[in-house]
Amino acid sequence: MNVYLVTGGAGFIGANFVKLLLTKYRDIKVVILDALTYAGNIKTVEDDIRDERCDFVHGDICNRELVKSLFEKHNFNFVVNFAAESHVDRSIDNPQLFLITNILGTQNLLDAARHAWTTGKDNDGYPQWLNGVRFHQVSTDEVYGSLESDNSFFEETTPIDPRSPYSASKASADMFVNAYAETYKMPVSITRCSNNYGPYHFPEKLIPLVIKNILEGKQLPVYGQGANIRDWLYVEDHCKAIDTVIHHGRRGEVYNIGGNNEMKNIDIVKLIIRTIRNIMEEKPACRATLKKKIYSDDGQLLIDWINDDLITFVQDRLGHDLRYAINPDKIYKELGWKPETSFNEGIQKTVQWFLDNQEWVEAVSEK
Ligand SMILES: NC(=O)c1ccc[n+]([C@@H]2O[C@H](COP(=O)([O-])OP(=O)(O)OC[C@H]3O[C@@H](n4cnc5c(N)ncnc54)[C@H](O)[C@@H]3O)[C@@H](O)[C@H]2O)c1
Repeated sequence: MNVYLVTGGAGFIGANFVKLLLTKYRDIKVVILDALTYAGNIKTVEDDIRDERCDFVHGDICNRELVKSLFEKHNFNFVVNFAAESHVDRSIDNPQLFLITNILGTQNLLDAARHAWTTGKDNDGYPQWLNGVRFHQVSTDEVYGSLESDNSFFEETTPIDPRSPYSASKASADMFVNAYAETYKMPVSITRCSNNYGPYHFPEKLIPLVIKNILEGKQLPVYGQGANIRDWLYVEDHCKAIDTVIHHGRRGEVYNIGGNNEMKNIDIVKLIIRTIRNIMEEKPACRATLKKKIYSDDGQLLIDWINDDLITFVQDRLGHDLRYAINPDKIYKELGWKPETSFNEGIQKTVQWFLDNQEWVEAVSEK
């Protein structure tokens, strides 16, 4: 039976990954370790931890004793490290927290896994590793830096060139993972993914923030002129890619994950406005989620509120990377993974999920 330690499993992508594991595999044990920072919420995994196959531990990946005790209690064969401070704006305000969680926390997990998974030394003095174990680091395309608005892409071989405190901390964590692979021959893998969106996305990031603000009748802040380009991937596709890499990817390898779906921020905001507007027109029941009354009781549109006039351009983020675009050919060709959800379909599903889960949005926003 596979036993997974999923750190950061009460956050956006980690929770989606836990849900995928519990749905896809029957005979499985999942232990979530999460510090429940502002970005993590127990409500996100409350159904999952009712399942006897899934335990929740409230704690910090930097806590040496706690992590060691988890390895003593469970025979983990996979560690999948999602736990991180993940918001670039917050890293500009408080870089040190990012170093502590993203670098020291990762190193603490690596060390605990190293002690638990090695059984002696081989003839060359390298540790001998248990069979079938894997430490997987969930990284980001932001470690590669920024691209011009041309036709270039981040490859796995692109030199690391992080620009923000967030991406510098993630790049550093990747280097520690590689250092453990080289120094101790630890079985590791790394995935570097583009921007994710989908259910359970904390409403400080672009897509859920725009949805939330539209429903609340607030302006939609867009950095600069909204010209920054990101490659977007539906979160479930990212989770499937990680599942593929940890089971079938070569150890010691980096795999880029992307949706081949580059969009300017401004175009995304406009698409969300159109999507919500259409849903409100077509599904009157959804109008109850609007915090501002824009339809009369007999269904007539009173104020033409949901349109591009909501967009307000705000001062650009410091050092805002212009373009990220990833070449995912390696995982396509080597492991046969491909994204299954188109952007239009993914946005439709995401908006509908947020409309159907306003209670969750309110609970996580109050924290
Ligand atoms: N969101 C994206 O678009 C994206 C894209 C590529 C890679 N990533 C990476 O994926 C991972 C998950 O991202 P996310 O968007 O789900 O982040 P998130 O901020 O939504 O969730 C992070 C989770 O980690 C937990 N956490 C934070 N510090 C912790 C600590 N010290 N100990 C234990 N738990 C802690 C939080 O409580 C939260 O549940 C991150 O490592 C991020 O760098 C994210």
